[in-house]
Amino acid sequence: MPKAKTYFFCRNCGYQSSSWLGRCPECGQWNTFEEEVVRAALPTSASRSSSAEAASAPKLLQEVVYSEHTRIPTGCAEFDRVLGGGLVPGSIVLLGGEPGIGKSTLLLQTALSIPDKRLLYVSGEESEQQIKMRAERIGTATAGETQQCYVVAETVTQRIFEHVDAVKPDILVVDSIQTISTESIDSSAGSISQIRECTAELQRFAKESGVPVLLVGHITKDGSLAGPKVMEHIVDAVLQFEGDRNYGFRILRALKNRFGSTAELGIFEMCGDGLRQVSNPSEFLIGHRDETLSGAAIAATLEGARPLFVEVQSLVSTAVYGTPQRNANGFDLRRMNMLLAVLEKRCGFKLGAKDVFLNIAGGLRVNDPAIDLAVACSILSSNVDIPISPRVCMAAELGLSGEVRPVARVEQRIAEADRLGFEQILVSKYSSRIAKRGYKIHIVEVGVIEEALKALFT
Ligand code: TYD
Ligand code: MG
Repeated sequence: MPKAKTYFFCRNCGYQSSSWLGRCPECGQWNTFEEEVVRAALPTSASRSSSAEAASAPKLLQEVVYSEHTRIPTGCAEFDRVLGGGLVPGSIVLLGGEPGIGKSTLLLQTALSIPDKRLLYVSGEESEQQIKMRAERIGTATAGETQQCYVVAETVTQRIFEHVDAVKPDILVVDSIQTISTESIDSSAGSISQIRECTAELQRFAKESGVPVLLVGHITKDGSLAGPKVMEHIVDAVLQFEGDRNYGFRILRALKNRFGSTAELGIFEMCGDGLRQVSNPSEFLIGHRDETLSGAAIAATLEGARPLFVEVQSLVSTAVYGTPQRNANGFDLRRMNMLLAVLEKRCGFKLGAKDVFLNIAGGLRVNDPAIDLAVACSILSSNVDIPISPRVCMAAELGLSGEVRPVARVEQRIAEADRLGFEQILVSKYSSRIAKRGYKIHIVEVGVIEEALKALFT
């Protein structure tokens, strides 16, 4: 039996030290060190790594064979989109998210809809019966007879690899990294050293066998992916599953992706029978209201390659207390404060003594700067209590001096707005030539924020 040693690990960043420290020299957090007993690696994992070294010899780049067809489509278009077109053989993908957001559901559903592939679903959280219950619930999405999904409840990596040797799956799913442990380390499952070692073992397995591994990871209270950054470095892609519990929407985004873009979004809706893909989210997000209410404006944003129309809602009211409250949901608060300053200075609205609350409907978080104009207009609409027609949308960035700036791919936004039946779209007049391709929609080009207000409110 190899000799056991104790180490201290920072709970926050995974920094390793041989003695206890009050403050982590890596991340600067206090009181985060925990003692863990680590035994030197067992022969099994040692032999795994030595065989990997023997197999790899330097090759000329021209000689490396690769084809896009080697990607394995998951049978779920939204998931594929975020992955960059399917699973890459030998890759390891981490799916993070808050408890109960639907990570297990997404993976099981995907597992059941991949045709003609052998799949091993290892769960450290649920028994086989519970997995079956979940599968029955989402039963409609299954690929039928050709689908071969093996399930096993197991928590020790060495035994997981035994099951893998027996089943020989094309894809391995492990739910979740916090519940599995390796025999080569003594500390309990979920500790930093366990997470690090288990991830490393799974990665070694993926690279040697070419089997893609999908890994679930929980998120900590402060919203970072649990376990630590160490894991994010090891894996090939980090996907985050998020959403608002009050809405059925779930958004899958890539925080890191070695094989695809991190700008893509996958949108799902949680239904009684599993997750449903939402292929035209705009129709959902902008809601269907007949009466016009003040404080709402629709922005034509793009997420990745896809147009996404969102409704910005704001509420401006006279501050009750001395310091006005500012709150933004789904939008950067500092950016909102900047826009408020622009409105105050350029348009002469006295917003300094007002409470301002901003919300992006649907629980989305939007990073596209094209939402600026909609934010500004929605705030003003609430301030003067005059509604903006729900058949008007806008796509432009605002500059510090109140100029309306052009945004990327404005044509695509206009085409989508036209398709969705909007009557008017506000864009910057500095946008590169907009070909008038017989759109029904009226394109209003504005140069400064005052012009936009004139177009909307007079
Ligand atoms: P789950 O996948 O267990 O979450 P995670 O693995 O991320 O912790 O999702 C559980 C939630 O999803 C639970 O609150 C119930 C809900 N749900 C549905 O609404 N419909 C369904 O078909 C399923 C399977 C779950
Ligand atoms: Mg789960």
